[in-house]
Order: sequence, then C-alpha cells, then structure tokens
Amino acid sequence: GAAVEVDISSLKPGEKITVEWRGKPVWIVKRTPEQLAELPKLDGQLADPASKRNPAELTPEYARNEWRSIKPEVLVAVGICSHLGCSPSDKFVAGPQPSLPDDWKGGFLCPCHGSTFDMAGRVFKNKPAPDNLEVPPHMYLSETKLLIG
Ligand code: FES
Repeated sequence: GAAVEVDISSLKPGEKITVEWRGKPVWIVKRTPEQLAELPKLDGQLADPASKRNPAELTPEYARNEWRSIKPEVLVAVGICSHLGCSPSDKFVAGPQPSLPDDWKGGFLCPCHGSTFDMAGRVFKNKPAPDNLEVPPHMYLSETKLLIG
C-alpha cells in the first residue's frame, strides 16, 4: 500500500489524530511530559515492557525504547487490539474509571474483552491481548511531517 504523509504541526500535547494506512487506523498521539514520565514506572505491570516479542512485526528498531517512538512525545501505533482486532478506546485521563484500575495512568482500553494498554501501546499483564500494539514503519520528513509506511 501507499505510504501516507501526515502533517502533525497542529497536534497538541494530550491529543490524538487517526489516519488510515493500508486499511488500518494509525494513531498519532502527542504525549504530555506527565504521561511520558509514567512509562518507565509501569514496566513491572506489562506483558512485554521492552517490546521484545515479534519485534520484526510489532516494533521497528527505532521504536524499541521506553517510549516506543522516534520522538519521545509522539507515539505512532496501529489502533487494532492484538487479541481479536477491536479498536481500543482512548483513556488518556489518569485515575479511577469504569473497567480501569484505580491507579490508572492513562492509555487505551479495548471495549471487547477489556485489554488495557499504556500510553506507549504496551499491553498490561494478564489480559487477553498477547502483544503490544503495532508500531508501523514510519519516519520524519521534517520536524512536523511524518511518513507512515
Ligand atoms: Fe481487544 Fe479482545 S479484541 S481484548
């Protein structure tokens, strides 16, 4: 499929945009400094914190880091749950909410069977989803222009 060019110059911290690539939703999320600061603290609760599983398919080399991204603040991920393919919902606000743990720090909740993912798309332990969300191949054409695919 054709690569998709995305201008992210108007994306603000805490916001997400969705674009389509190869028929799949690709999320671009600008994380806040607070959201980024929580990521290392969550490692013990995650199934694959360092994104070691299926790296060739799920996490390109340039995203095998704590943020799973090229620029720490900008997450690029395919918005399809690794369980049975539902699209997880944004749950960016921290704190107790229905279907989420009391110490929730922000991330995504799959409405189908309750898998939860952190703000880097990393799946929490003991959930039906086996893997982190896929980080698609991507690169920056300029400071604010992304090429996905
Ligand atoms: Fe997401 Fe089952 S499809 S938890």
